[in-house]
Amino acid sequence: MSNVHAIGHPLIAHDLAIARDRDTPTPMFREAVGRVGVMLAYEATHDLALEDHAVTTPMEPMTAKRLVLPITVVPILRAGLGFADAIHRILPGANMGHLGMFRDEKKLTPVGYYQKLPSTVAQGPVLLVDPMLATGGSAIAAVRLLKGHGCTDIRFLCLIAAPEGIAKLHAVADDVPIYTAAIDRELNEHGYILPGLGDAGDRIFGTTE
Ligand code: PRP
Ligand code: URA
Repeated sequence: MSNVHAIGHPLIAHDLAIARDRDTPTPMFREAVGRVGVMLAYEATHDLALEDHAVTTPMEPMTAKRLVLPITVVPILRAGLGFADAIHRILPGANMGHLGMFRDEKKLTPVGYYQKLPSTVAQGPVLLVDPMLATGGSAIAAVRLLKGHGCTDIRFLCLIAAPEGIAKLHAVADDVPIYTAAIDRELNEHGYILPGLGDAGDRIFGTTE
């Protein structure tokens, strides 16, 4: 699969196992998801532009490098927040946009309910984050929306991707690289990823019944 980066780092594999385990309590789940988000962000930002920056060390002046801003992190609510808050800690200069979407449980299509993007969103790279890429409907809707705002550098980060979601997203936007911790086997008849980890949003926010 081109433009799909499955990051098989041992630290990611370890946290992914914690997230997959149905007995993992909510706080541990949220922390593991956040750590994976940070590691995926590290991979997905390997080619970000740098600019010269004059600093004076305690020893002498020098020309250091710093990130060219703006960079925007855009979580798809709710579950994307599990990545976004953690990623913000390693990219404190990034702006944050929010896209609220939930899946209609019968049709499995995304329903948008909130949208707030910084006015500068199209001026730099966008990290679009959501732990789960299942049917691909939510990611496609988010990418379309961002492209509609003029974004040309969109990178999608997820914890687990289903082959069906990867194919659908890349059928409409193969310029969007996908960074994922795992590509799982398939979707079940309810659009859930197998083996997956269940409902990411519920597990991050403790709303599982
Ligand atoms: C989950 C997940 C994605 C979406 C993926 O959100 O966080 O946004 O499903 O499914 P798709 O690829 O088939 O669109 P959900 O609808 O459960 O909302 P939540 O994050 O608010 O729980
Ligand atoms: N959304 C989730 O949270 N989990 C899945 O397996 C599929 C969609």
